[in-house]
Amino acid sequence: MARTIRLAVIAGDGIGPEVVAEGIKVLDAVLAGSDVSVERTEFELGAKRWHDTGETLTDEDLAAISTHDAILLGAVGDPTVPSGVLERGLLLKLRFALDHYVNLRPSVLYPGVPTPLANPGDVDFVVVREGTEGPYTGNGGALRVGTPHEIATEVSVNTAFGVERVVRDAFARAQARPRKKLTLVHKHNVLVNAGHLWRRTVDAVAEEFPEITVDYAHVDAATIYMVTDPARFDVIVTDNLFGDIITDLAAAITGGIGLAASGNVNPDGAFPSMFEPVHGSAPDIAGKSLADPTATVLSVALLLEHLGLPEQAQRISNAVTSDIVSRDGSARSTVEIGDALAARVAG
Ligand code: NAI
Ligand code: MG
Repeated sequence: MARTIRLAVIAGDGIGPEVVAEGIKVLDAVLAGSDVSVERTEFELGAKRWHDTGETLTDEDLAAISTHDAILLGAVGDPTVPSGVLERGLLLKLRFALDHYVNLRPSVLYPGVPTPLANPGDVDFVVVREGTEGPYTGNGGALRVGTPHEIATEVSVNTAFGVERVVRDAFARAQARPRKKLTLVHKHNVLVNAGHLWRRTVDAVAEEFPEITVDYAHVDAATIYMVTDPARFDVIVTDNLFGDIITDLAAAITGGIGLAASGNVNPDGAFPSMFEPVHGSAPDIAGKSLADPTATVLSVALLLEHLGLPEQAQRISNAVTSDIVSRDGSARSTVEIGDALAARVAG
């Protein structure tokens, strides 16, 4: 049956437009000749819009974006905009407003990719990071700022509802993977209130998934395992802050920022999910065609998987794998890498 994907595109700042152009090129290539087509709407959001109008993300923008099936985002952030304005006002606002409660970050060590680990083993895990709660909700404040008596709080919010829905999603993902293993990462020996809610929730949901092996690691120990034995992980479920930190480590051990893809997912389908490379706008290399678009291309694969097109998603992952294997160390431009990947998915 013919199908049209309505895609909202936020190319953003710096290298964002460069890598998004290649992501779209590969998307078009993988769908060419099929009965799936893409109808794209570009949204001018980011530094330029803020300078021109003072706006980051208006209610009208949000309403227009919400009518789409999915969002592809490059990166936002620019040295000319005060830190936090675009990150909080645009990125976090989208994630919260569109209820992206699953932040999905797969980590695969592709053959031939350099890793700082001497003995990594077979690394293929996915972090399911809670995206709407924890210490990132803005529940806090500051008093007597700038005085010796300054008070600053950042309260970690954990609801039974919020924890259960992300834990359920993680179990379902583990069920669909061959190893069927789930690791809860937290710090329940010290953060006893939130930690016990997470632990009890995992224990309760585990009863419905008897095939899944359930494991637990304190977040500090998890950083050790990620370096000494990352192959032990399959699906990791964790809170917003811990997930933010361990996914950067996960990206570092699996070949770095040029390969790390992510999805901000609303599994209920009430709102469009948003797919983006983990990296930022890289102002240091913007406009020079030096950016590796592979992380964006892999984010497009996550997007297709989310939209129920796993065969096309797999073709993109395969194209990336074979492209990486064929790399001989010679420098390629952003466009050359995009062209190579587009040719591989089409071929
Ligand atoms: P960054 O990820 O933009 O850059 C870090 C380093 O990695 C730089 O040396 C950069 O050249 C390199 N790099 C990043 N992506 C690359 C790619 N695809 N290929 C090759 N090299 C790449 O992080 P940074 O410098 O901390 O932040 C720059 C701006 O981006 C800031 O305004 C920041 O707030 C924003 N940012 C936005 C994110 C988003 O939109 N999701 C995420 C992270 C940062
Ligand atoms: Mg981060």
